[in-house]
Amino acid sequence: MALTIAVDGPAASGKGTISKALAAHFAFAHLDTGLLYRAVGAQLLQGADPLEAARSLRAEDIDADALRNSAVAQAASKVAAIPEVRQALLDFQRAFARRAGGAVLDGRDIGTVICPEAEVKLYVTASDEVRAERRYLELSAKGQDVTPEGVLEDLQARDKRDSERATAPLKAAEDAILLDTSELSIDDAVARCVAAVDAVRNAG
Ligand code: CDP
Ligand code: CDP
Repeated sequence: MALTIAVDGPAASGKGTISKALAAHFAFAHLDTGLLYRAVGAQLLQGADPLEAARSLRAEDIDADALRNSAVAQAASKVAAIPEVRQALLDFQRAFARRAGGAVLDGRDIGTVICPEAEVKLYVTASDEVRAERRYLELSAKGQDVTPEGVLEDLQARDKRDSERATAPLKAAEDAILLDTSELSIDDAVARCVAAVDAVRNAG
């Protein structure tokens, strides 16, 4: 059964890791929608008009590694508050979600705006401290010049902006399954999500 799985949550909550693992487990396609906003944010940093950048974005031009840093993340969160930018990225995400083979999308508004009809919705959280520690380890392992305090500030500033914006704010859909991963290993978090998806598949 081809399903759409929507995975939302704040920065560095583990939604990307979980989504990738779910996609591999069920042989579904995976779209990290944060990369779309990061790609537009990176263009803003280079002086481009964000709306033009969103309208002309080509998925094959997105270089995930180059986009995973705090400056681009902040710029992403700024362009993500522009309703026209979100609108310009909507059709691509919706078309991806309707793939025949099943799809996992992760972001902020997948369960609420992009795919309100998704068969499975997960909302992944973890405490600020745990998220900052994980992201710090990830970025410093890549050789980036980050501090634990700086990473925590980046996450909190983005979460605030993402939650308070008027259009498609970060929030759990009413029918989302909530998963706090603060005390969970990646394997345990993934196992719970696989079980949640299996429950829906078996019921359907
Ligand atoms: O996609 P999102 O920003 O929500 O987070 P992520 O990139 O999946 O996870 C951030 C970091 O936390 C990665 O380095 C993961 O390996 C790690 N992580 C973890 O240590 N424990 C978990 N339960 C989930 C993720
Ligand atoms: O991996 P992490 O959670 O740190 O960030 P991301 O998922 O790559 O998203 C970067 C930024 O893009 C977020 O802070 C949001 O402002 C924005 N975003 C959004 O508004 N809606 C989405 N569906 C995904 C990302």
